[in-house]
Amino acid sequence: MRVAMFSAKPYDRRSFEERNAPHGHEITYLEPRLSAQTAALAHGFPAVCLFVNDEADAPVIARLAQGGVRLIALRCAGFNNVDLAAAERHGITVARVPAYSPHAVAEFTVGLMLSLVRHIHRAYQRTRDNNFALDGLLGFDLHGKTVGVVGTGRIGAIVARILRAGFGCHVLASDPCPDETLASLGVRYAAPEEAIAASDIVTLHCPLTPGTHHLLDAAAFARMRRGALVVNTSRGALLDSEAAIEALKSGRLGGLAIDVYEQEADLFFEDLSNEIIQDDVLQRLMMFPNVLVTGHQAFFTREALENIADTTLANITAFARGAALENAVTVAGTRG
Ligand code: NAI
Repeated sequence: MRVAMFSAKPYDRRSFEERNAPHGHEITYLEPRLSAQTAALAHGFPAVCLFVNDEADAPVIARLAQGGVRLIALRCAGFNNVDLAAAERHGITVARVPAYSPHAVAEFTVGLMLSLVRHIHRAYQRTRDNNFALDGLLGFDLHGKTVGVVGTGRIGAIVARILRAGFGCHVLASDPCPDETLASLGVRYAAPEEAIAASDIVTLHCPLTPGTHHLLDAAAFARMRRGALVVNTSRGALLDSEAAIEALKSGRLGGLAIDVYEQEADLFFEDLSNEIIQDDVLQRLMMFPNVLVTGHQAFFTREALENIADTTLANITAFARGAALENAVTVAGTRG
């Protein structure tokens, strides 16, 4: 099948080319991100392959449909960037990669947490300047602390296990569908308000939906323990960044590690080291010594890239053969 891959990076090309032989799809690798301005590039392709910051809103989907697109093959798990209702109206099938390596994201999350708690990112910079002083690097033990895990699906459950079994943390989880197997490990479920308010560290692993948009806003920060830390490797808009800045300034929020950012679409995955960044909120966040920002890299392991390529190519093959698509995403499915 002919596929137009948007936001294609060299590592995407490598992993897809390495694994495409049994499928034989004709993939055109396009650097631009999908948007209203770039949708015309997909003209004549029956399938497009999209990543997290490609924008498939209703007008873009209408243009894709006009150009003959019948399949949107997401090479990611989240699908908040696709207007599923619009896709259904235009008869476009949407498929995703539900799980490629939850371990990749969970392990990275714990890495961010440790960096934040022990100031490893600051120590790295200091020692490069031959500054071996410890002042300002005082951390605390994770052992015995309470971590609020919001969302215990594939990724959150692994984070909860690592923290509970590995570090001996108290884990206060919140999820509308609790994972019974976590209870036997001593993970306690609570209402989201309690998990956020009663924890020393809060880590977010729920999807971005209208109900979770700005889950951590000024009111939530006000309810948190003074000096609590927040880690977000899920989706940027779960966190109100401007409210986070105020909470950091007042000391209410003791530290923040983010791999995702609400306005990341124009920034992340690009080398902008020679540019003047116009996003004052992100720039302000990065000025805090107790804020750690990474550019949506939690998924980025060899294993994850291989799994992403395998599942995406298999989704496209199944669609081309008219077979049932087990990884289809539908409006009805998301209500579920
Ligand atoms: P999942 O679908 O397995 O788990 C999500 C869990 O959140 C489910 O158990 C669901 O019941 C729960 N949930 C839904 N609404 C909630 C709410 N209001 N409060 C608490 N829990 C709620 O998803 P998975 O694979 O664990 O991924 C989690 C998120 O991580 C994804 O939505 C995606 O946005 C993000 N992600 C980030 C990556 C990165 O590189 N930074 C890579 C992959 C995923």
